Amino acid sequence: MVHPLDDFDLIKRFDTNEMLKVIESFPEMSLDALKTVETYNLKIDKKDFRNVVIAGMGGSAIGGVLLRDWLQPTCHTPIIISKQYKLPSYVNENTLLLAVSYSGNTEETLSALNEAKIKQSSIIVFTSGGKMASYAEHEGIPCVKLPGGFQPRAAIPYQFFSLAAIARKIGLVDGAWSEVDESVNLLSTLRSEMKLESPYASNLAKQIAFQIKGYIPFIYGSSIHEGVAYRWNTQINENSKIPAGSSSFPEAFHNAVMASEADSELLKNACAIFLIDPYEQKETAAKIQVFHEIMSRRFGRLIEIHARGNDRLSRIMSALYIGDFVSTYLGLLYGRNPSSIDSINELKRTQVK
Ligand code: PA5
Repeated sequence: MVHPLDDFDLIKRFDTNEMLKVIESFPEMSLDALKTVETYNLKIDKKDFRNVVIAGMGGSAIGGVLLRDWLQPTCHTPIIISKQYKLPSYVNENTLLLAVSYSGNTEETLSALNEAKIKQSSIIVFTSGGKMASYAEHEGIPCVKLPGGFQPRAAIPYQFFSLAAIARKIGLVDGAWSEVDESVNLLSTLRSEMKLESPYASNLAKQIAFQIKGYIPFIYGSSIHEGVAYRWNTQINENSKIPAGSSSFPEAFHNAVMASEADSELLKNACAIFLIDPYEQKETAAKIQVFHEIMSRRFGRLIEIHARGNDRLSRIMSALYIGDFVSTYLGLLYGRNPSSIDSINELKRTQVK
């Protein structure tokens, strides 16, 4: 019998907006983003910013989170993610504000952008259009134009690699840039392993999705994968339409571990997913083993995902890419359209006068 995730007709019936095809294009989208930013002649000084604040919501915030996680050990300028209407009070004329909204119409991000303009911060916007593109044009703010037609969360290669290329132009990346090529090559290898045509028997993402079905997943990421664990969580919410939770190490040792003491009836449907990094700090790695052992006593299911690659960016990107495929296959297993976002849209229609 054909496995449901190898049944192309069934997949086509639910994946009406072709989320899988878009995810399969991740490597090409990444290269396109890098090439496009290369051609930009943005009027932005390479000055010593006191901080870089990346404003965005949901799928448009994650690129900034990944940039922060990637550059954390090497970049001397603080990179802060702001997911609010209001910016932190330290934002001023010494701040570089990177405002990211795929649609260009997200009210929180537009509000942050407006505030940064008033505070005379240096600004670059990243958008496919909408009010943000018009505002940038009107105010003479540099704009990185993202191609339209995707779900914001599926445009992550454009968002992340555009942010990364701009960060490089202003001198935040330095030696870490050499990791970009390897990470894109690795994405291509992973795509071959996890794409729709790759059968269930040898497709890691299909197998993991099948194991998660029927469970509420909780994702625990190695320290480098704090943002990726959260991305898994939100991709499972949006693409699979199910609840999920996430945390990262070592923070999870101080709270999430207590979930192992919950009622057995509850825990039998809980699935702990570990995003394991091969280069985890040794103190943390030792405690992850104990955490795993505690959770395995009570959680209904445990799954380990191993990040691939040697450098930091490859490990981040590989762990993220596996999650993008898994969440999409999981949504399809539940008979849902991975692209639909009816409840998000209902909330976006709520306007306070
Ligand atoms: O994944 C999604 O569709 C959402 O999380 C959006 O990214 C979020 O609502 C913000 O919208 P935008 O990315 O257009 O600014």
